[in-house]
Amino acid sequence: MSILAKTPPMGWNTWNTFGWKINEELVKKAADAFVESGLKDAGYEYIVIDDCWSLKERDEEGRLVCDPEKFPGGMKQLADYVHSKGLKFGMYSCAGTHTCAGHPGSFEHEFEDAKTFAEWGVDYLKYDYCYKPDHIPGEILYKRMGTALRNCGRDILFSACNWGNDEVYQWIRETGAHMFRSTGDIQDNWESIKNIVLSQIGKESHSGTYCYNDMDMLVVGMYGKGDNNAVALGGCSDIEYRSHFSLWALMNSPLMIGCDIRKMSKETVEILTNKDIIALNQDEEARGPYCIRQWNNPEKVMAFVKPLSNGDYAIGMFNFSETASEMSLQFWDIGLSAAAGKGLSIYDCWSHEEEGTFKERYVCTLEPHGCRVFRGKVIDF
Ligand code: GLA
Repeated sequence: MSILAKTPPMGWNTWNTFGWKINEELVKKAADAFVESGLKDAGYEYIVIDDCWSLKERDEEGRLVCDPEKFPGGMKQLADYVHSKGLKFGMYSCAGTHTCAGHPGSFEHEFEDAKTFAEWGVDYLKYDYCYKPDHIPGEILYKRMGTALRNCGRDILFSACNWGNDEVYQWIRETGAHMFRSTGDIQDNWESIKNIVLSQIGKESHSGTYCYNDMDMLVVGMYGKGDNNAVALGGCSDIEYRSHFSLWALMNSPLMIGCDIRKMSKETVEILTNKDIIALNQDEEARGPYCIRQWNNPEKVMAFVKPLSNGDYAIGMFNFSETASEMSLQFWDIGLSAAAGKGLSIYDCWSHEEEGTFKERYVCTLEPHGCRVFRGKVIDF
């Protein structure tokens, strides 16, 4: 087996926008758009089909069957199509008896399902947590599927999705998972984005090499639209989508797009393909960040800072309040010493311009729900 997920996985998933309304044509068109829009060049790799792809019953031999009305050519053929674009193909199942939408789950079928996925050419499996038998710990169920995937004869990235239950941070790495969902389902509004981020403060260091804290699929570019009414709730402004993308990038979350990539606005493409932000997420050392709160507004204004492999800092400052707010980042809080003559040369990852050189602190005003994101290089004064 190769080593997968050296950095947070990047891709697209059908769920946020399409819910149960998925089909072969849509996935093929999405794969085409994935390449044409520049997502592939920006580093996105996986095309993932979420729940509702199968029939409600297994076949006589106990195998999962893809819905012939939605996917008439079958999954192998669809995987071949995705692979022909130089992309990887992902699918979905569940640790319980049924998936969250009531299709067959993989409980007690883990090894045969892993084999089926391998035969179809699957490269990524999202593994949900609905209809889980009470008497078996989730840890064991994820270990089962982790073992099955590691022994199915194909490299399959394992995306665990138990929404942060059962102290998942304590045991998830032992299951072989490459990413783990830490929260309930995201919705396309600022309140949901904010709640997810605030719930993960203090847990940032659990997200690192080979196993990342999945804060759920991105809602960037949805603007409140889509067939999935549970997610497309309200929409966000581009300022909010920029903060959302920056937060996921800095907090080492996988970057799984959830909007309709066949119809992205110019602004959406600019956000999702921002190479300077993606580089902070994809830094080869993949260290999680730490949080530094603004002293006079600690609950709502804060920075996330992560050390990068070349000695630079990734610094994102965020304003969760409803008014413009000041943030003052004191360099002693991130390990720099003005007494030793050290300061920072700062590059703005959204304007793509040098911001200047700074000693002791960097101070700026953040618009409501807005952010500033920098790469800081240590310099001598
Ligand atoms: C759960 C997951 C979602 C999605 C749905 C599908 O709610 O958290 O991401 O996969 O199931 O039914």
